[in-house]
Amino acid sequence: MTGNTEVFESEEFREMLNKTRTMKEPPQQDGSLRQAWYINRARMILNEKEKELGRKLTFCVVTFGCQMNERDSEKLRGILKLAGYAEKDTEDADFVLYNTCTVRENANVRVYGRLGSLAPYRRKNPEMKIALCGCMMQEKDVVDRIRKDYRYVSLVFGTHNLHRFAELLVASLMSDRQVIDVVEKDDTIVENLPAERTYSFKSGVNIMFGCNNFCSYCIVPYVRGREKSREPKEIIREIEQLVADGVVEVMLLGQNVNSYGKGLEDPVSFADLLREVEKIDGLKRIRFMTSHPKDLSDDLIEVMAHSEKICSHLHLPVQSGSSRLLKIMNRHYTKESYLALVDRLKAAMPDLSLTTDIIVGFPGETEEDFLETMDIVRKVEYDSAFTFIYSKRTGTPAASMEDQISEDVIRDRFDRLLKEVQRIGRMRSSRFEGQVCPVLVEEKNRQEEGLMTGRTPHNLVVHFPGDEGLTGSIVNVRLAESRGFYYMGERV
Ligand code: SAH
Ligand code: SF4
Ligand code: F3S
Repeated sequence: MTGNTEVFESEEFREMLNKTRTMKEPPQQDGSLRQAWYINRARMILNEKEKELGRKLTFCVVTFGCQMNERDSEKLRGILKLAGYAEKDTEDADFVLYNTCTVRENANVRVYGRLGSLAPYRRKNPEMKIALCGCMMQEKDVVDRIRKDYRYVSLVFGTHNLHRFAELLVASLMSDRQVIDVVEKDDTIVENLPAERTYSFKSGVNIMFGCNNFCSYCIVPYVRGREKSREPKEIIREIEQLVADGVVEVMLLGQNVNSYGKGLEDPVSFADLLREVEKIDGLKRIRFMTSHPKDLSDDLIEVMAHSEKICSHLHLPVQSGSSRLLKIMNRHYTKESYLALVDRLKAAMPDLSLTTDIIVGFPGETEEDFLETMDIVRKVEYDSAFTFIYSKRTGTPAASMEDQISEDVIRDRFDRLLKEVQRIGRMRSSRFEGQVCPVLVEEKNRQEEGLMTGRTPHNLVVHFPGDEGLTGSIVNVRLAESRGFYYMGERV
């Protein structure tokens, strides 16, 4: 954890905590007031337990998966802290919560493995509660398996009722039985919940939830539900509060930020939202994730090109370079239209860093399809790319497609792709050598004493001599020596 130990709760939520302290019954209506009541309730229960045990109770939250899960975990940690638990980095805690991911099979495997490894802690501490939440819990097979083979798990909940965590926590604290509460669908957006940020100076901000795209390989729409945007005024208010609390960089989060605002009563585009966020005084940097190429508008390119705060970096997942496969993947663009989009982006922002996600071994991928992917990688010249081996997700259309690719063919293609991605990444990264860049200082270097680590607007990592007092500030650093994917620098 870096630089932040206080839970961040809005003025409104603080008032709700006060107001509900003396209420005998919880407010009926679902929302933050009701959750505030349950936080007070949890605090009372934990107080009793602490007296009984003669020590403070602890929690540990482990997060798997993407930035949405990271942000959700900050909210869960905020609630646990307000309820009276003390945070611990290790899993020998009284309340251990795994916020899970299921985008690829190995994410699931890791969770089961990790659960097994809790056995010695459970033996030492019979009071220990283990809870599971997140995307994996939206799968029926998983919950059945937990119910049957992991009886010692105390609490299970999903992605749709995360905002009711305080209530579920109380239910679990008051029961010795396994509490399972997973719902198929819940469109409520609860504003104003507290959060315990990992970094004091930067924060993710959800601008929308869910996904409507149903790419044929992807399980996210099934476990996160339909797309739903937050009201712009709520987003702005949250960012203003974060800035007042010391945040200088925000990452606007959504599975497809380019379709932000479509379902709102007064529809707003993502570009319009960015124009508003730009105006927030004190905010220095804006990032966002993820951009679906099919919905990236010229208006957005315009806003990015003229912005003082939007970082010169765009994550634009391509998945494959084969138009034939892109169609079967249900991506709604072709190799040619993607390249044309990249041309427009580069024409407007010659200095832009582009990164991407690529899947290798999608069902039916031929050598020719794969060579198209290699070709697009060379043409775009990505600054970096996440390369994934296709993972079969039960329930998605691709899982039942014939012609699943054998492991050794995938391995060979994966290795060839990775080599190319790395060669290009190294070359792209070295283009900054000798330049002076504004670097947001993030943390102490984990390997070497006396060094600090930060990021440039292009999202390049830089290590440079400095002291911890610089954390959270933006300083000018000369990018002295490129080491492939990061830089060694010096302050100027
Ligand atoms: N909403 C984002 C992606 C979220 S998932 C977008 O559309 O860009 C992050 C990445 O995981 C995806 O971009 C994809 O490359 C990868 N992914 C998703 N499902 C996968 C699967 N079944 N097998 C392998 N990789 C997968
Ligand atoms: Fe998955 Fe596609 Fe939605 Fe991204 S856009 S989350 S890849 S379905
Ligand atoms: Fe994983 Fe869920 Fe994110 S499946 S990638 S944690 S939306």
